[in-house]
Amino acid sequence: MIKDINILNSSKEDVTDKESLKQLEFIEKAKGYVEELSKELGRKPSACVVTFGCQMNARDSEKLLAILKLVGYEETESENADFVIYNTCTVRDNADQRVFGRLGACSNHKKKNPHMKIAICGCMMQEQSAVEKIQKSYRFVDLIFGTHNIYKFAELLCTCLESDRMIIDIWKETDKIVEDLPVFRKYPFKSGVNIMFGCNNFCTYCIVPYVRGRERSRAPKDIIRECEKLAADGVKEVMLLGQNVNSYGNDFEEGDPSRITFPQLLEEVCKVEGLERVRFMTPHPKDFSDELLDVIAANPKIARHIHLPLQSGSTEILRRMNRKYTKDAYLSLVDKIREKLPEVAITTDIIVGFPGETPADVDETIDVVKKASFDNAFTFIYSKRTGTPAAGFSDQVPEKEVKENFDRLLKVVQETARIQSEKLTGKCEKVLVESVNDQDNSLVTGRLSNNTLVHFPGGEELIGEIVDVKLSECHGFYFTGERI
Ligand code: 5AD
Ligand code: SF4
Repeated sequence: MIKDINILNSSKEDVTDKESLKQLEFIEKAKGYVEELSKELGRKPSACVVTFGCQMNARDSEKLLAILKLVGYEETESENADFVIYNTCTVRDNADQRVFGRLGACSNHKKKNPHMKIAICGCMMQEQSAVEKIQKSYRFVDLIFGTHNIYKFAELLCTCLESDRMIIDIWKETDKIVEDLPVFRKYPFKSGVNIMFGCNNFCTYCIVPYVRGRERSRAPKDIIRECEKLAADGVKEVMLLGQNVNSYGNDFEEGDPSRITFPQLLEEVCKVEGLERVRFMTPHPKDFSDELLDVIAANPKIARHIHLPLQSGSTEILRRMNRKYTKDAYLSLVDKIREKLPEVAITTDIIVGFPGETPADVDETIDVVKKASFDNAFTFIYSKRTGTPAAGFSDQVPEKEVKENFDRLLKVVQETARIQSEKLTGKCEKVLVESVNDQDNSLVTGRLSNNTLVHFPGGEELIGEIVDVKLSECHGFYFTGERI
């Protein structure tokens, strides 16, 4: 079906403190549309939210799903649904490709189900080229919006259900945060909590500052209120989310009485009764303060896990990445962490194949992996992101060389992670039980404070409980154990 396109003319000026009330009205309106659809179909319509990318996107998807459920859709995992929404990522190339593949398959479902609506949102939609591609080649899509106006999904959903046109609403930027919208939690016992949005760091390979905008911190009182509500609702573990959590609060006005630092915020969150574990993601090595280390050391509720993206171990590549630290500074920070918090697991992100990277640079990275003894590392092949400074660097590395370097690094990463993991063998640790094991339903799966996975005998009734488990056997990245 070829559609007309309707580009909405909203802007950030529309956002007021009354916004959440306005959105609640749209939820009521959408309920009416979904009820009509229900009568027509003779069943409850279904909705599927497909998420790509990071924890931020996962949290956004919980907000989308909450609204879809509230207005009367039934959640389904199948993309052959009455409403399908793709929450996209554009940090690396493969996520882009996957979305277009999935969209193609969706068009076949839509041919059989004329009621079907297809929406696409998230980081990729902040890139003009991606939106143009959809307008040109995927005209069956009903709704496109970006990262800045996700809070008005209820309103966009109404517009989409009222119209046969393709609705596009993308904002270039925003400086507002809308509070008090409904959220649906995937897990009853743990939840992400956004503490800030956007990033000001402009690492030269990274698209995030362009698609998520400048740093905006939520007011501490709103964060604490959300944590209190979650705890009252049975949540035991929160993960404080931000692209660079340790610059939390830098955007508050000087002299603003509510201005606090990230370590102070962590302390406040730890005081929330009922919360037993507090995680955070992601700190930037350049901003990792002694104050933060002291707060972690003093608060056993704070998870013994620090994800500290390295990206490269070569000081020259780090300079070209605009990371603002050197190899030595990173290693000193790791030493300090290991000294003050010996039980902490340190994990990292590493990019291989950044423009100009030589095998000698990769040797430097491998050297850091060995010296830092990472407990785990996510290794990525550099992917050129249009619009970022590095995309214009002339010395892109040939694919074959990147692959060789990647394999060399991966071997060391796996070896280091295995050695680190094995150190826990025989220990007794507190485990938050997350699920019944997929492969063997006599087992449950949970996580240690340091994020290590463990499988041990137990039943469904343990989900959401924190129990003591002996880590009997190490299997590389996970343990099998038994309750004590
Ligand atoms: N290419 C490859 N990896 C990237 N990352 C971010 N941008 C790129 C890119 N252009 C990786 C970084 C970051 C993680 C979330 O994704 O390692 O920490
Ligand atoms: Fe991207 Fe760097 Fe910001 Fe992380 S800190 S989101 S890598 S620009």
